[in-house]
Amino acid sequence: MDKKNLLSQMTLEEKASLCSGADFWHMKEIKRFGLPSVMMTDGPHGLRKQAEKSDHLGLNGSVPATCFPPAVTTASSWNTGKLEQVGRAIGEEARKEEVTVVLGPGANMKRSPLCGRNFEYFSEDPYLSGEMAAAWINGLQSENVGASLKHFAGNNQEKARLAENSVIDERTLREIYLTAFEKAVKQAQPWTVMCSYNRINNVYSCENQWLLTNVLRDEWGFEGSGVTDWGAMNCRTKALKAGLELEMPGPDGYNDNMIINAVREGQLDEAVLDRAVERLLEIYEKALKNRKKEYDAEAHHRLGREMAAESAVLLKNEDVLPLSLKKRYAVVGAFAQHPRYQGAGSSKINPHRIDSPLEELKKMGISCEYAPGYDLEKDIVDETLIQGAKEIAKEKDGVIVFAGLPDSYESEGFDRIHLDMPESHNALIRAMTEVNKNVIVVLMCGSVVLMPWRDRVQGILLAYLGGEAAGGACADLLTGRKNPSGKLAETFPLRLEDTPCYENFASEELDVLYCENLFVGYRYYDWSNKEVAYPFGYGLSYTEFEYSDMEVRWDDRQESGQVTLNVKNTGDCSGSEVVQLYIGKRETEILRAPKELKGFVKVVLEPGEEKHVTMILDKRSFAFYDTSSSDWVIEDGVYQVCAAASSRDIRCEQEISVSGVKVCNAFMLKPEDIREGETYRFTRGHLEALFGGNLPLISDEKRSLTARIKKVLEDKKGMELFGDIIQKSMEPFKGTDKEEAMLTMIYDLPLRGLVMFGATDYADIADRVEEWKKVGKEGVDN
Ligand code: BGC
Repeated sequence: MDKKNLLSQMTLEEKASLCSGADFWHMKEIKRFGLPSVMMTDGPHGLRKQAEKSDHLGLNGSVPATCFPPAVTTASSWNTGKLEQVGRAIGEEARKEEVTVVLGPGANMKRSPLCGRNFEYFSEDPYLSGEMAAAWINGLQSENVGASLKHFAGNNQEKARLAENSVIDERTLREIYLTAFEKAVKQAQPWTVMCSYNRINNVYSCENQWLLTNVLRDEWGFEGSGVTDWGAMNCRTKALKAGLELEMPGPDGYNDNMIINAVREGQLDEAVLDRAVERLLEIYEKALKNRKKEYDAEAHHRLGREMAAESAVLLKNEDVLPLSLKKRYAVVGAFAQHPRYQGAGSSKINPHRIDSPLEELKKMGISCEYAPGYDLEKDIVDETLIQGAKEIAKEKDGVIVFAGLPDSYESEGFDRIHLDMPESHNALIRAMTEVNKNVIVVLMCGSVVLMPWRDRVQGILLAYLGGEAAGGACADLLTGRKNPSGKLAETFPLRLEDTPCYENFASEELDVLYCENLFVGYRYYDWSNKEVAYPFGYGLSYTEFEYSDMEVRWDDRQESGQVTLNVKNTGDCSGSEVVQLYIGKRETEILRAPKELKGFVKVVLEPGEEKHVTMILDKRSFAFYDTSSSDWVIEDGVYQVCAAASSRDIRCEQEISVSGVKVCNAFMLKPEDIREGETYRFTRGHLEALFGGNLPLISDEKRSLTARIKKVLEDKKGMELFGDIIQKSMEPFKGTDKEEAMLTMIYDLPLRGLVMFGATDYADIADRVEEWKKVGKEGVDN
């Protein structure tokens, strides 16, 4: 495709029109230039292709596809090769369905375990998230299907996600919140990057030139196109100038006209539009090369099962696992028959089929009697169901309880307010411990939960959300056909109050202050010396591993090196170990976490086998982001290099001297700045200091403009203008268990969020907004 030539033949109107979609899922077709209709479709753990009615919350049907385990699960496999295979399989399914771009992966950090969408994100650690995201993209794009790396950036809560302002100092942004995106861009070059809904430091992501051009393109070398999250567009011309090419969904005649007028009136250089269209033509060019392909759904199901088995984490095992063919078990908990296997929202896949753990256990010859123990539909403790479970459990050699979080507890669109499992699940587990001494809990959930019963049970297998083949994978692990090898990609704390941003997460404020700075996940728990239930990187196996002979080599001039060591399987069954590389610096002039993950390798070992493993060191293994030189810099001195089985199980440690600079940056916090008695504490004042005194907060004027729909509807005129749209959006949920959550979500949106609920289907929507603006009312931000 001769893009320059094509561009020269296009009218201004045609060029502007390409900058927004044709409908919910397609880019526009221009027949006279042979530009096809290009389809984008949700992922990321499978394909959510809506052939008929569209929505961004997984409410309407989609074509059957393989539901692979979501990111929360695959991250704990630490197996980039396997995830690349999953990415490739999703690419094959996209080709069969003639989909050009799959909307994923999600590389946002798990800032708080309360974020409702954590199941769609990989980890609390940027290195691990970046490696996993890159692997998924490389797999998908090897099928010539494009990825959309999302949600760029600072989208770490669901609360007010279209309006909030994530206030993050630059060092924290660079070292924590941007690193996974940076790795994914540099290692996998996604075709598109999806900007998030929120503001970062008071600038919407979609119109954030620093983010979309300076960092993403100029520094990281991104070559693809920027696309909005669905309905994230704010001011179209600002966004175009900032480097955001495509607005989704479409069509957005209102914004297309804004582009045309801005060019005609000399407010927008046509060259900016040309550059955007040229980038979009790249996607069309790639789409034209795609050939339809069939895929083997059985093989994908098997791959999903392998991925789920590779990812589950064995948290506890007091000689109760693997199960024995000679023993009799009670299997309780309705998840045993109807597993929870994926999260709710835009990533919801319509699976080919779902394996039930109970049936799979029976197929493997395990003697098991089943009782549901709790009601899947009602969130109440049902004593009769518990009694039924007790009856069958008391005579057995062991009990396997399937429990966790139902859909209504975690979803895209709202955050959790606590970390508890439903009382009906906890009560069932407690009841089982009263009648049986061998209780094994299999947890199905998309995020961290508290386990008040963990000292009273003998085994815990964290299956997370295992995708459509979760049942088979659980059975493989419980019976020992497969040896658990997952390790936690997030910390399981003891109490909600212990979590890093407990004091400033998802409040009613639109300005969200990231006061906890770099101290997210294990960085925080280590730094504040907090005990945890299960640390980052933790996971047991049916065998044991020994680490020895670690050697560290580092070349200051080349800024490269490696860590090597031997790992031996000292048990009597084969297994895989995730060896983790952490680096810390005890004597330091700057604030830093006691240690950070800088590498890992997963190695398969037969009983008695020993392997020599290598992990690579580079500048970033030691560097921090120095805001005074706007660059990554190594602090001179001694570093601790550790090979570990978890963040709290260091097996080999060695100190090395690394030459770098003496740090002197007046704008950087030092450890003594935040000391409070024996501990450390961050305050708003510290964050202010990092911004040189002034936090980039939403101005009072803008705050009133981003007032949310609840406010708009409280106004008589607002109700008159927009009430029908809200009412129509709510119709499918009336009387269902989703009604309350949906209302909370809609009420929380700024007016522009209505586009996601089909506002563009109303021919007069632009007039209504104009009228609302005329009345001088709240709700419109540009
Ligand atoms: C989500 C995106 C998703 C899009 C399209 C948005 O609400 O944030 O992750 O890709 O909808 O469904």
